[in-house]
Formats: sequence, structure tokens, C-alpha cells
Amino acid sequence: MCPEETRFSARCLVRLTVNGQSHELEVEPRVTLLDLLRERLQLTGAKKGCNRGECGACTVLLDGRRVNACLVLAASAEGCAVTTVEGLAQDGRLHPVQQAFIEHDAFQCGFCTSGQIMSALACITEGHTGSNAEIREWMSGNLCRCAAYPQIAEAVAAAARDMSASEAA
Ligand code: FES
Ligand code: FES
Repeated sequence: MCPEETRFSARCLVRLTVNGQSHELEVEPRVTLLDLLRERLQLTGAKKGCNRGECGACTVLLDGRRVNACLVLAASAEGCAVTTVEGLAQDGRLHPVQQAFIEHDAFQCGFCTSGQIMSALACITEGHTGSNAEIREWMSGNLCRCAAYPQIAEAVAAAARDMSASEAA
């Protein structure tokens, strides 16, 4: 059994990039990526809903892939690039997905919205926007207690069209 001081003072060094900015932080091994973002970096866009991988409110991109930040240990994100909803707007312009959510009225209380937007971005880049049913299937890990699902699916489809038109231009 380790001495009490060792058990409670263990820390590990985590170096990661968040929204393009490098960070080096000492954290306890049990700290999740969600808590690191919200409590150490004050990036509160990712929400703590269930804190056990069921609601998707904490969705962020880890090296470009969507993850539930409440299920990722911060220590395991060593050397990774994290993107949160705070990192999407560029030069004062909203990301097309953010714009589409506004234009399609894809939220009510807004609690799930940052997770929905991050998941929507991944859904689009993964190429899962072929139909309304496909969008709903690939967005099904993000729950909305206000049941704004029809508008969310419309916003994802619109953002996919917009992003593909920008790429073609
Ligand atoms: S807070 Fe992470 S999935 Fe619900
Ligand atoms: S907008 Fe309220 S939970 Fe989704």
C-alpha cells in the first residue's frame, strides 16, 4: 500500500494542444478531459450532462475524431490536438455548422448545442449526411431533452451543403 501522501499527491504532466494553443498541465491521473477543459482551461462550451457517456453534451474533437470528453482521461490525451466549440469561429465569423444551427433554429435551451455542433461537424467530415435518416443515425449519440431533432437534422444537412459548396468554389 502506498503512503497516504503518495496516494493523494500523484500528478502527471499532460501536454496537449487545444484550439491551436499549446498547454502543459499537471493533473491527477483520474481527471477527465472534460474536467481539464472546463476547470483548468475555463473552456465551458463542452457541457457536463450525464458524465458517463450517454448524452453527448461533452462532445469534442480529439485529433479530428469526435469523443465524449467525460470518458477520456486527460492523461491519455498527451500529445493530442483537441478542438472545442470555442475553436470553431474564425476571424469573428461563425463556422458554417454554427451558422446553420442559428438559421434552422436547431436549439431551445441550448444545453446540448455545443455537443451537437461538434458532433455535426464530425458527422459531415465523416460523410454521413446522405439522407435525413443517415444524419439522425450518426447524430444519435447526442441527446436533446428539448427534442429539437428535426431542426438539428436540417441544420446538419444545410451545413453539409454549405461546406461542400465552399470546397468546390
Ligand atoms: S456528459 Fe459526457 S456523454 Fe454525457
Ligand atoms: S436544446 Fe435543450 S437539450 Fe437540446
